[in-house]
Amino acid sequence: MKYGYFDDKNREYVITQPDTPLPWINYLGCQAYFGIISNTAGGYSFYRDARLRRITRYRYNNAPFDFGGRYIYVRDDAAGDFWSPSWQPTRRKLENYSCRHGMGYTTIGSQYNGVEASTRYFVPLDENLEIWQLTITNHRRQAAELSVFSAIEFCLWDAQDDSTNFQRNFSIGEVEVENGVIYHKTEYRERRDHYSFFACSEKISGFDTQRDTFLGPYRGWDDPAVVESGQACNSLAHGWAPIGSHHVRLSLEPGESRQIVFVLGYQENPRDQKFDPLDSQILNKKKAKCVLSRYLVPGTADAAFEKLGQYWDDLLGICQVDTPDVHTNRMVNIWNAYQCMATFNMSRSASSYESGIGRGLGFRDSNQDLLGFVHMVPERARERILDLAATQLPTGGAYHQYQPLTKRGNNDVGSGFNDDPHWLIIGVAAYLKETGDWSILDEAVPYDNEPGTETELYEHLQRSFRYTLDRLGPHGLPLIGRADWNDCLNLNCFSDSPGQSFQTTTNKDGKVAESVFIAGLFVLAGRELAEIARHRCHKAEARSYLAEVEKMEATIRQHGWDGEWFIRAYDDFGRKVGSKECVEGKIFIETQGFCTLAGVGLEDGLAARALKSTRQLLATKHGIVLQQPAYSKYYLELGEISSYPPGYKENAGIFCHNNPWVMIGEARVGNGDSAHDYYSRINPSAREEMSNVHRCEPYVYAQMIAGRDAPTHGEAKNSWLTGTAAWNYYAITQWILGVRTDYDGLLIAPVVPKGWKGFKVTRKFRGVTYDIVVERSGDGNAVSLEVDGQSIAGNLVPLPPSGTTNVAVKAIVA
Ligand code: BGC
Ligand code: NOJ
Repeated sequence: MKYGYFDDKNREYVITQPDTPLPWINYLGCQAYFGIISNTAGGYSFYRDARLRRITRYRYNNAPFDFGGRYIYVRDDAAGDFWSPSWQPTRRKLENYSCRHGMGYTTIGSQYNGVEASTRYFVPLDENLEIWQLTITNHRRQAAELSVFSAIEFCLWDAQDDSTNFQRNFSIGEVEVENGVIYHKTEYRERRDHYSFFACSEKISGFDTQRDTFLGPYRGWDDPAVVESGQACNSLAHGWAPIGSHHVRLSLEPGESRQIVFVLGYQENPRDQKFDPLDSQILNKKKAKCVLSRYLVPGTADAAFEKLGQYWDDLLGICQVDTPDVHTNRMVNIWNAYQCMATFNMSRSASSYESGIGRGLGFRDSNQDLLGFVHMVPERARERILDLAATQLPTGGAYHQYQPLTKRGNNDVGSGFNDDPHWLIIGVAAYLKETGDWSILDEAVPYDNEPGTETELYEHLQRSFRYTLDRLGPHGLPLIGRADWNDCLNLNCFSDSPGQSFQTTTNKDGKVAESVFIAGLFVLAGRELAEIARHRCHKAEARSYLAEVEKMEATIRQHGWDGEWFIRAYDDFGRKVGSKECVEGKIFIETQGFCTLAGVGLEDGLAARALKSTRQLLATKHGIVLQQPAYSKYYLELGEISSYPPGYKENAGIFCHNNPWVMIGEARVGNGDSAHDYYSRINPSAREEMSNVHRCEPYVYAQMIAGRDAPTHGEAKNSWLTGTAAWNYYAITQWILGVRTDYDGLLIAPVVPKGWKGFKVTRKFRGVTYDIVVERSGDGNAVSLEVDGQSIAGNLVPLPPSGTTNVAVKAIVA
């Protein structure tokens, strides 16, 4: 069952029914001002930091699920009836409804009693504000006398405090209203120097800023007293809950259409210019007025919208594919790339599942996210890498997270996730391959942000690698520390108290439990580091890295192989985890995926064997589950993984983040059918037809799909902000379609289904546009290349002479 359809030409998903199984959201903003918006206009906005600069209020885990938003009410003043064009909050029976989620904008509209109203919401580039463009049309035969009410609820800035500290908060709310513009200035009288403003392009008939006046006692947003009565009260908030609502009266002739623009924005003032007059307590509104003088004028909003479209054309234009599979095309060309940008902007901060107050930027997460966006925003990726590296500790270890506003490591979570340092190598390698900007390695970067500790970035990578060598366990495998990629495999935690954090509790000395996953990661990172060292002409150093890598591979063969698959770990008692010796959790996906991806066991058949076991024991029609059999009870020595009911999250859920590792593994053993088959099982577009089962948005990946042990097998959760976005993008573009960035050029190494006759890719790479045509002439994966009409040996398209703008590549696969 579907709730809408893809409009690929316009790069939109069109929702045609408002009561989707879950709110289906989109993101507004791509620089500093951001918002989330659902298909019924739920959501909130913030400036840079979703916790500390929350502009509008939203209540998580609400009933209904998605509440608090950018609401509009239209009232038929003759009949006294009213409705919301976004369906929520009034939930009237609509004559039609559509929500178009597009690139950085959402348009929601509907018709009710012959009046059509549709609002386009977006954040213009280079501005700290959002625009709501409401178009309202009278399709009746008679004139319509209407009232339009806007409505938002202000958040008192710190979202955490806002939702808990009521004894204070109910007394501090403050606003000013001048010329119909509502200014929210809670705490501005003291230490804040920022405010928000909400304005309307039309002459207003009134306003409201006190929530309980607008709603009326004991009433909710579905039935505000002011809207019912048809006249705003001009209420001024003093404490309690400040809101912003404008009241506009409209008279529309039959067939007449009008546009109203609302602008919600954020501004900061210099400390010494907070007030106007200076010795008063009146907000200095100059900056807001200046912005409004531009954006409340007809035409500016349209021009800003065009510019936003151009921005996305440019970003998405960097890699476009044309394959026989519509779902591949749509995800690569539009939605998966778009989702990768969302993970760049948000990391794991604000979504329907991330409350914006919890997690900062993860060291591991942000480095992996790079794989999905480095080609679109290389300069910003460079900055991100340097920020991340500056939080690294002198030992080579890393804070698990850092706070975006301060850029400092987050002490509450600390460090000791022993996989973390290697992801920096993986991220830097991806950046170097994409850009060829070797100068990044010479940048002076501190440790733990301490001035005076700077070394070149290259040394950070060396210390990352060393970190593992300094922490090997009894079998010569890497010690796991708090956890590795799987945050829930907590082998040193032994938590027996409810509420204790699995992420930060450590009751063991960490000298025994080892991770085969980190061993695989070490192999991959070590090979990259060796290549980087070779490029810097450190030949002996490169050799020493490769020697360590070989040693680790041998250790994996000796102590990390279970006969038919790779073992997952050794626990604190030195017992195997993820082995046929275990009662539950006998086989895990992570090591099957990551070891094969890293190339372990390619020559001697271990990789192929591990992939076969994966297919036999872990693959389901909804994707590959994380482990089997699921843990049926809590295991003190394993930690959070066994705290989840069977089939959910890390306890045998389908973790969509690591499915692509298996896809890449399959590509590495040359099995294109299998790689693409796995790709399709979790591809949200390919799952659109079963939206009633999948339930999350069909246009973006979710972190998890419930596994076969769950009663809700196939149901997705935690959509949008997940490493799934980057890994799937990377797997399909670089390993399955095989257009792969490398240090010295672009590799063409497709491993696609046998049934595909060919496909095309346009890829901008280091300033040159490559038009790549791939044709199949046999069943294998061997590639013969023609570059600008000339046959060349091998499958690397070398960098063309400088000044070249276009290169034509033809690849025959046989
Ligand atoms: C989740 C993990 C996540 C971890 C850290 C756990 O509850 O299951 O997926 O990585 O929290 O935030
Ligand atoms: C989500 C976390 O963001 C990520 O860092 C982790 O690797 C996975 N969960 C698996 O636990």
